[in-house]
Amino acid sequence: MVHGRKILLGVTGSIAAFKAVFLARELIRRGAEVRVVMTAAATEFVGPLTFATLTGHRVYSDFTEDADQGTWTNHVDLGLWADLFVVAPATAETLSAFSTGRCTNFLHAVFLSSRCEVMVAPAMDLDMFSHAATQANLHLLRERGISVVEPVSGPLASGLEGKGRMEEPGAIADAVEGYFESRAPLRGLRVLITAGPTHEPIDAVRFIGNRSSGKMGVALAQAFIDQGAQVSLLLGPATVAPPVGCEEVVRFETAAELAAAVAERWGQMDVGIAAAAVADVRPAAPATNKLHRADLPPAIVLEPTPDVLAYMGQHKAGHQKLIGFALETDEGRASAASKLERKNLDGIVLNTLLDDGAGFQTDTNKVSTFDGRDWHTFELKSKAEVARDLVNFIQHL
Ligand code: CTP
Repeated sequence: MVHGRKILLGVTGSIAAFKAVFLARELIRRGAEVRVVMTAAATEFVGPLTFATLTGHRVYSDFTEDADQGTWTNHVDLGLWADLFVVAPATAETLSAFSTGRCTNFLHAVFLSSRCEVMVAPAMDLDMFSHAATQANLHLLRERGISVVEPVSGPLASGLEGKGRMEEPGAIADAVEGYFESRAPLRGLRVLITAGPTHEPIDAVRFIGNRSSGKMGVALAQAFIDQGAQVSLLLGPATVAPPVGCEEVVRFETAAELAAAVAERWGQMDVGIAAAAVADVRPAAPATNKLHRADLPPAIVLEPTPDVLAYMGQHKAGHQKLIGFALETDEGRASAASKLERKNLDGIVLNTLLDDGAGFQTDTNKVSTFDGRDWHTFELKSKAEVARDLVNFIQHL
């Protein structure tokens, strides 16, 4: 759930600042994009260069970039950029500033202007932490919706022992993961997506295929993962890379292999989306060796492949929703509506090659959706945007 998220890491002046280095590294390892804001006190514990090298971005700690030129760092932009602002370590002074709205450094200004949610991981001596003032600040911050990663007990820099040690970087990264998970609207939804073309062998080296790139199905997988769904992606022989975060990615070559993979899984799914361009026919008797020119037949006898989507429609349970695709070369609504009926679908997505920028190979698509009652036509968009529209369409189903 952290993959692709923008995380602003705030580092304040505590010895635990060294652990923030490991936190930044762990968040990056989990796929997050990390930018770092440090207070001046924090830079006394860890050099900004360490964070800049790890994250590949400059570190922000002051309002002015170049006082001579009058250029300044826009704290508002940073606050707007982030999906989550994680302040680790958060000192007693920082918690106090956050709760009162005091704005005496750049990090405080970022806090006040950020629109994303904020998570703090306090670090301080045990008596500072248990002090009524600190506890009152934390109480107020929690009431305002700020998440607190509680410190743990153990040896402290003062030589004392007790509760005040900042939680370990791995546990804070888990809390960040949990934060995104708990806000993912499709958490727990199991989605099966078929994508890409099929290759139906003629002999050991030749096949019947089609121009599908698999991009639309992969974009759909990404859009469902972003909303917290568990995606099983069945991907044909396409060059597009499957997204990170799929529950499983199963590669297939032929319609028969796809049919077998679907039969094994469809019963455990909540949603099925057939974005694959499955060959309708295959050579009836493919040769196992390479046919030499002299042996090539003048005609190839074809036989039908299994209709995977029709199978899913026939075996659809009451709670399951099934969505098909129809790629047509004419206006296509009548044909798509009849597919919805014939294959027992809940929704169908139509793209017609009459529209420029729609269909195979492109990075864009222009689709219409039909839920059995109403049609809705979308603008030409990137496949990633179309995928988000389709997730909304399927949620509405
Ligand atoms: N489909 C499938 N298995 C097949 C053929 C198609 O799962 N053997 C799915 C596709 O993934 C798509 C939908 O069926 O979601 C429509 O595909 P299309 O080839 O347009 O449908 P057909 O039933 O083959 O209809 P026709 O050729 O008559 O247009």
